[in-house]
Amino acid sequence: MKLSHILTNTVTLLSLSLGVEGHFSRSRNDAVGPKHPFRPLPHSPPRRKLCHVRSHGDGSDDSKFVLAALNKCNHGGKVVFDADTEYTIGTALDLTFLNNIDLEILGRLTFTPDTDYWQANSFKHTFQNATTFFNLGGTDVNVYGGGTLDGNGQVWYDLYAEDALILRPILVGIIGLHGGTIGPLKLRYSPQWYQLVANSSDVLFDGIDISGYSASENEAKNTDGWDTYRSHNIVIQNSVINNGDDCVSFKPNSTDILVQNLYCNGSHGISVGSLGQYPGEVDIVKNVLVYNISMYNASDMARIKVWPGVSSAMSEDLQGGGGLGAVSNITYDQMFIENVDWAIEVTQCYGQDNLTLCNEFPSDLTISDIHISNIYGTTSGARDPNVGTIVCSSPDVCSDIYVENIDVLSPSGTNDFVCTNVDESLLQVNCTSG
Ligand SMILES: *[C@@H]1O[C@H](CO)[C@@H](O)[C@H](O)[C@H]1NC(C)=O
Ligand SMILES: *[C@@H]1O[C@H](CO)[C@@H](O)[C@H](O)[C@H]1NC(C)=O
Ligand SMILES: *[C@@H]1O[C@H](CO)[C@@H](O)[C@H](O)[C@H]1NC(C)=O
Ligand SMILES: *[C@@H]1O[C@H](CO)[C@@H](O)[C@H](O)[C@H]1NC(C)=O
Ligand SMILES: *[C@@H]1O[C@H](CO)[C@@H](O)[C@H](O)[C@H]1NC(C)=O
Ligand SMILES: *[C@@H]1O[C@H](CO)[C@@H](O)[C@H](O)[C@H]1NC(C)=O
Ligand SMILES: *[C@@H]1O[C@H](CO)[C@@H](O)[C@H](O)[C@H]1NC(C)=O
Ligand SMILES: *[C@@H]1O[C@H](CO)[C@@H](O)[C@H](O)[C@H]1NC(C)=O
Ligand SMILES: *[C@@H]1O[C@H](CO)[C@@H](O)[C@H](O)[C@H]1NC(C)=O
Repeated sequence: MKLSHILTNTVTLLSLSLGVEGHFSRSRNDAVGPKHPFRPLPHSPPRRKLCHVRSHGDGSDDSKFVLAALNKCNHGGKVVFDADTEYTIGTALDLTFLNNIDLEILGRLTFTPDTDYWQANSFKHTFQNATTFFNLGGTDVNVYGGGTLDGNGQVWYDLYAEDALILRPILVGIIGLHGGTIGPLKLRYSPQWYQLVANSSDVLFDGIDISGYSASENEAKNTDGWDTYRSHNIVIQNSVINNGDDCVSFKPNSTDILVQNLYCNGSHGISVGSLGQYPGEVDIVKNVLVYNISMYNASDMARIKVWPGVSSAMSEDLQGGGGLGAVSNITYDQMFIENVDWAIEVTQCYGQDNLTLCNEFPSDLTISDIHISNIYGTTSGARDPNVGTIVCSSPDVCSDIYVENIDVLSPSGTNDFVCTNVDESLLQVNCTSG
């Protein structure tokens, strides 16, 4: 253990003049742009206590030190994970008790590669069998500093190749957080999704840097950048995402979500859904604004995926169909694409290759009031001659889908769209098949 850590283990400052004011004591709203959040973000009062997190420095579990510092500086303090310091996390941490606190992460937090421990002890969320290393929630929590959270994903990528039903933890679990800012932070090697945002509201993600590739032949799969679930008034902006699944995904009951100024590489695009996976459940995604995105080397740019009214199987660990609900007031504006398979992919037949069957059992989840405009760039050519696809399961469950100013060509110069069961008079594209 470094001597400096023993000496500065916990310093409590009584005076604000010593400079511990909250990183975001100014209004969080000033940091959001060019588009404004759906509702103003709450104010974060200055912090008045300071704690440093100790580290064993030898790879043994530092979780107790983390909990000690968070408890000591909760309710008005700031907790610092020191620069040039390695922290090892080997215990699932329930951090949903946080209140008026800043976490300044300067060093690196690495989660242990003990796959047996994590599968038994990670936090289980019934939704899509999601599990998290930790749950961070409460009110008014800011996490920043530019340090790193490392999920030690390689062991998980290799294990998943052997058994697709293992439970791979999500690196960052923002669960029940009301008011807060996350970022700048570096997120590396998540076992699966990078961030789950559930049961949360009024949270700004700003300056998240995501990367982590597998070093073996087993790909890092399902590494979504963000998944929002049962959450409202969330802003995601100014971030760089190098991953292999959705860049951002709006799961059931995501409302009032602003996403802007992202650079996504290698992803499956910015996706609504999948929705309607669970029979009898009602999934709502409404009021989403996606603005100013650069998308490279991806399967999709703007994507809406809805399961049909009939039970369907995507893969061994992804099956569904028959759910209810609505997708409405979704806007995608100002997108640049390069080497992307589909500029636009809207489907109400997700997971069902048999379109006859999909049309026989139309989705019980409606799609309406969709505005997709100003997409520039080139596709990969993988779907030649098509650059986009808009497939509804029935015209009765799809309405007001507007597409305009799509300046996209395939490498061979085509710009065809597949349009099925949709009002083509609202689509300013070349619908050539469907
Ligand atoms: C969210 O809140 C609901 C209702 O309180 C709870 O059942 C669920 O486990 C919470 N967490 C997630 C991830 O949805
Ligand atoms: C969750 O995991 C169980 C058992 O591993 C599996 O049977 C089920 O299909 C999974 N559910 C989803 C939605 O992936
Ligand atoms: C669009 O996003 C990029 C970052 O990807 C940023 O540099 C640029 O300033 C943004 N444009 C506007 C109009 O905000
Ligand atoms: C971008 O994605 C491609 C394809 O997934 C990958 O080969 C490349 O390394 C990524 N670029 C960066 C900067 O990570
Ligand atoms: C989503 O919202 C709908 C409508 O309010 C509700 O019926 C449904 O139970 C919610 N689903 C979840 C997973 O919270
Ligand atoms: C629809 O979304 C836009 C942002 O794209 C927002 O300005 C508008 O208020 C939303 N409409 C409703 C009815 O909430
Ligand atoms: C796209 O992928 C190619 C090769 O996989 C890579 O050379 C290129 O840098 C990637 N583009 C970006 C913007 O990372
Ligand atoms: C697709 O579904 C239809 C209607 O249920 C059925 O008649 C047909 O055999 C199916 N096609 C295939 C290839 O399974
Ligand atoms: C449709 O294709 C024609 C011929 O390539 C092209 O001139 C026209 O601009 C295209 N329309 C749209 C809306 O892309």
